[in-house]
Amino acid sequence: MQYRTFGKLDWQPSALGFGAMRLPILNEDSGQINEPLATAMIRYAIDQGVTYVDTAWPYHKGTSEPFLAKALADGYRAKVKLATKMPTWLIKSLDDCDSYLDQQLERLQTDTIDFYLLHALHAERWHALRDLNVTAWAEKQIASGKIRHIGFSFHDRYEAFQEIIDDYDGWDFCQIQYNFMDVNEQAGTKGLHYAADKGLGVVIMEPLRGGKLAKNPPPPAVAALWEQASVKRTPADWALQWLWNQPEVSLILSGMSTLQQVEENVASAERSSSGSFSAEELALVDKARAAYQSLVPIPCTACEYCLPCPQGVAIPRIFGVYNEAIMYDDVKGARDTYLNWLDAKERADLCVECRQCEEQCPQAIEITDWLKKAHAMLMAS
Ligand SMILES: NC(=O)c1ccc[n+]([C@@H]2O[C@H](COP(=O)([O-])OP(=O)(O)OC[C@H]3O[C@@H](n4cnc5c(N)ncnc54)[C@H](OP(=O)(O)O)[C@@H]3O)[C@@H](O)[C@H]2O)c1
Repeated sequence: MQYRTFGKLDWQPSALGFGAMRLPILNEDSGQINEPLATAMIRYAIDQGVTYVDTAWPYHKGTSEPFLAKALADGYRAKVKLATKMPTWLIKSLDDCDSYLDQQLERLQTDTIDFYLLHALHAERWHALRDLNVTAWAEKQIASGKIRHIGFSFHDRYEAFQEIIDDYDGWDFCQIQYNFMDVNEQAGTKGLHYAADKGLGVVIMEPLRGGKLAKNPPPPAVAALWEQASVKRTPADWALQWLWNQPEVSLILSGMSTLQQVEENVASAERSSSGSFSAEELALVDKARAAYQSLVPIPCTACEYCLPCPQGVAIPRIFGVYNEAIMYDDVKGARDTYLNWLDAKERADLCVECRQCEEQCPQAIEITDWLKKAHAMLMAS
């Protein structure tokens, strides 16, 4: 295993961490973890030198934390740093913070959580927690030994990311969605550098965009590019090595679902190092990004000039889901997002064809027609 640096902390994490959000399951129910297989996968990773395991209150419908207590028995807990997250969307008071932390310690059967994150911060959520003085609360927990380090995971625009970092100088680390497609999305490359410059450890989530970048074979235009490289890699290895090539990346979390994926990603981590990519390889990844982007059917830039829609239709988000379905050939995943992450009051079938949005769209997108098409595809079973 290769080990890296972690911001200002005197600790060298393994290049690969284990994300316990996409464990193997039974009966297609994410609440039923296939415990024997998942335990074997986690223990294999730790036996190969992985030293960081990440979970959260809601993963696997709340069963990930209690499962980890069992998987990390028999001496495995002592070999890793354990990270879990405060379910920030459920917090109304500091008493709630106490209550969830105590339940998490109980679920995880541990006396201390090494890395505790405020889960899925965006600007509005951060402002509410900041008003509660959550960082003073965290410092008390660190003093009491219930947690060792405080950080946050993030899903919003770069400006919110910088604000959260600037608001508190006690952050030890953060967790960002980052991969070779997301260089200008969310925290992006700019956020990675900003956090690293401030001395934070930066943990990467969704390095394979939840698996979309690991599809083998990839779209033909991308496959043709990978073919040109002098060093041959799988699509997953391209995406992971591109991240490890960057010294600002502290560790990559992958949510592995099979033992084979664990074996492959551990082997990738063993070959990794900062600054290992040649100029040719960096250029190929830039071309691969452009090749994926050229598959986008709707030229929406999410500028939001079309909003607010009088009917409440979430136009840019719907177009984002539709575009990803086509780009990554993942209609099933897009349907899941449309049904479970978009409120019925925001869906495309509420459009009454007033076309106000089309008058505002700088890209001259025929929004009404695309909304119909998107809804038909995303609702089909
Ligand atoms: N804090 C937050 O808000 C937040 C949000 C997201 C994630 N996370 C954390 O970050 C972790 C990592 O994110 P992620 O799970 O999205 O990671 P990811 O590595 O982008 O996606 C994991 C998926 O990629 C595929 N995969 C992994 N290795 C592969 C390989 N070698 N070959 C082919 N396919 C491979 C598998 O999908 P298939 O088998 O289905 O193809 C797997 O389920 C999560 O597990 C979780 O712990 C946190």
